Amino acid sequence: MSPRHPVLAGVGAYLPPRVVTNDDLAVGLDTSDAWIRGRTGIAERRFAGAGTSTADLAVEAGTLALKSSSESEADAVVLATATPDHPLPGTAPEVAARLGLAGAAAYDVSAVCAGFLYGLASAAGLIAAGYARRVLLIGAETFTSIIDPADRGTAVIFADGAGAVVLRAGDAGEPGAIGHTDLGSDGTHKDLIVVPGGGSRQRTSGEPAGPRDHYFQMAGRDVYRHAVERMSGSARTALEHAGWAVADVDRFVPHQANAKISAAVADRLGLHPGRVLSNIARTGNTSAASVPLLLAHAAADRRLRPGHRVLLAAFGGGLAWGASTLVWPDVTALTEG
Ligand code: UT7
Repeated sequence: MSPRHPVLAGVGAYLPPRVVTNDDLAVGLDTSDAWIRGRTGIAERRFAGAGTSTADLAVEAGTLALKSSSESEADAVVLATATPDHPLPGTAPEVAARLGLAGAAAYDVSAVCAGFLYGLASAAGLIAAGYARRVLLIGAETFTSIIDPADRGTAVIFADGAGAVVLRAGDAGEPGAIGHTDLGSDGTHKDLIVVPGGGSRQRTSGEPAGPRDHYFQMAGRDVYRHAVERMSGSARTALEHAGWAVADVDRFVPHQANAKISAAVADRLGLHPGRVLSNIARTGNTSAASVPLLLAHAAADRRLRPGHRVLLAAFGGGLAWGASTLVWPDVTALTEG
């Protein structure tokens, strides 16, 4: 039987060109550069302009990841996003078609900020089950399409962007081989991160739609606490499966929710702060796009190098979380923006 272990073979990232600084946001909001930097580590972020959708960003990142993998083909396209182009159909089929992959399996994965880890498990599973030999996995978001610009608790944090990886069928022992991906959820806290309107629950509630129901809402303090707890727990489980001690981890790639959350998770794990990668200062929180964006940016500027043992972890609405491991392979990351 030909090998069926999912192996990372390419990585790409795309950020839309418009840079929005903390000072730009402070013009219309009761906030400040000092507050945003101090509480989150964010200095600037990118906003997609009117007329640019999640599919548009996904196509850019997907093109770069395919090019990075030196092949233009894939049997499946998995798109992790919480901001699809439409409530239906899924956005992945359009992305696949625009990449010249019409006919490939294509579907969206909805797990908000944990979306890339859920997508990773799904894409890896397609290869392990023999359904696909090559999968393009994209995390893409236009969070500006659901953020209330008047809500200083979220408007200063979330932003737009896309990152992508190509997985191919290979051997479990080679660099790039994806480790066991730990996933978990706790829907008893579903209201901590929610867009209240637009779904069947609103229709059945009997209440008329409120003016802010289509905006993203987050109970930041509570989410922070759960994020630290769940990301560190999931990371520990992924490390156990890999047979790695914490000291074996060369680079930690956490979802970029907040620099303080990343530091707190590393602290809980007993991981040296110098091994924690970050790009939140220039990207903000890009939800499902954040992990592949960070992989691509860090590989491009050599903070992430072939042979590094990498730990991935993410957490978000649902609540949902996940973690995985891999040894970084010799790939050329392609980034734009
Ligand atoms: O990615 C998916 C998962 N998301 C996360 O993991 C996000 C987790 N949460 C967080 O990162 C943090 O909770 C935030 C960055 C969202 C907020 O930071 P915080 O330190 O938890 O602030 P807070 O919400 O407890 O608010 C503290 C104060 C409040 O004022 P009072 O009540 O103390 O007077 C807020 O009104 O800060 C105020 N505040 C702001 N002030 C200036 C909230 N947002 C802002 C702002 N500028 N943008």
